[in-house]
Amino acid sequence: MYNLLKGKKGIIFGALDENSIASKTAERVHEEGGKFVLTNAPVAMRMGQIKNLAEKTGSEIIPADATNMEDLENLVTKAMEILGGKLDFVLHSIGMSVNVRKNIPYTESNYVNTEKGWDVSALSFHKVCQVLYRNDAMNEWGSIVALTYMAAQRTFPDYNDMADNKAYLESVARSFGYFFGKDKKVRVNTISQSPTPTTAGQGVKGFSGFIAYADAMSPLGNASAQDCADYTVSLFSDLTRKVTMQNLYHDGGFSNTGVSNEVIQRFS
Ligand SMILES: NC(=O)c1ccc[n+]([C@@H]2O[C@H](COP(=O)([O-])OP(=O)(O)OC[C@H]3O[C@@H](n4cnc5c(N)ncnc54)[C@H](O)[C@@H]3O)[C@@H](O)[C@H]2O)c1
Repeated sequence: MYNLLKGKKGIIFGALDENSIASKTAERVHEEGGKFVLTNAPVAMRMGQIKNLAEKTGSEIIPADATNMEDLENLVTKAMEILGGKLDFVLHSIGMSVNVRKNIPYTESNYVNTEKGWDVSALSFHKVCQVLYRNDAMNEWGSIVALTYMAAQRTFPDYNDMADNKAYLESVARSFGYFFGKDKKVRVNTISQSPTPTTAGQGVKGFSGFIAYADAMSPLGNASAQDCADYTVSLFSDLTRKVTMQNLYHDGGFSNTGVSNEVIQRFS
């Protein structure tokens, strides 16, 4: 370990169970000396696993629905009290589509579901940024990261309306990144992660085929949740202070590969 986050404080959204990208990240941040508050939607608390993670990492949990501004205000204020000052890092690791959950095809979207999924998966990132910005809650050279997927750029039919949500999320990172950079010297980026076997990931129809295909297409193979945790630590560290407003592919090379020999062989 490198002590990359020694003395740094933050908030980690989205640790649901041990497979969650946020859980792996929390453990890595802890190993690197960072201190944080864990948060998730009040319903996610019932699963109990976030409590184990909190014990393991010496963290407190503050429940917050990331679509609710009052919850977010309370979270940010209390996190600063608990951690003893402004924050250096924030991870937004949140996603959910009601249309996907209900197996409703993209061409038949129910728009009440669409709006709910967009609020949870995309607008919540704007809300988190706004509460941090308004409360002047970030230290200079702090880092805010959200997780996304390449369906924002290219079509993956069963990713459904999450593709639109991710496109919006990535745009918020650029737009808020401008203001956070100019006014507060804070970075805002998205990490575009390989398909990863988590609760959210496995909700996508045909996920096992999807993940195997991505692995066969990527020269380095799929990036795991653990790999993503490592990459996120680097973005929270002082070694990436001038990286902002970027969508950063973390996918073993998938996004720049036209085709791989493994995939060609299956068609030959
Ligand atoms: N798993 C993949 O294949 C993959 C690939 C690329 C990007 N991502 C993204 O990574 C992020 C984390 O997902 P994951 O794969 O670790 O799955 P996960 O299911 O473990 O995490 C999703 C989290 O979102 C939380 N959440 C849902 N509604 C919420 C709300 N209203 N308020 C606060 N939190 C809420 C859930 O409780 C859960 O902890 C998501 O943004 C996801 O889209 C995942």
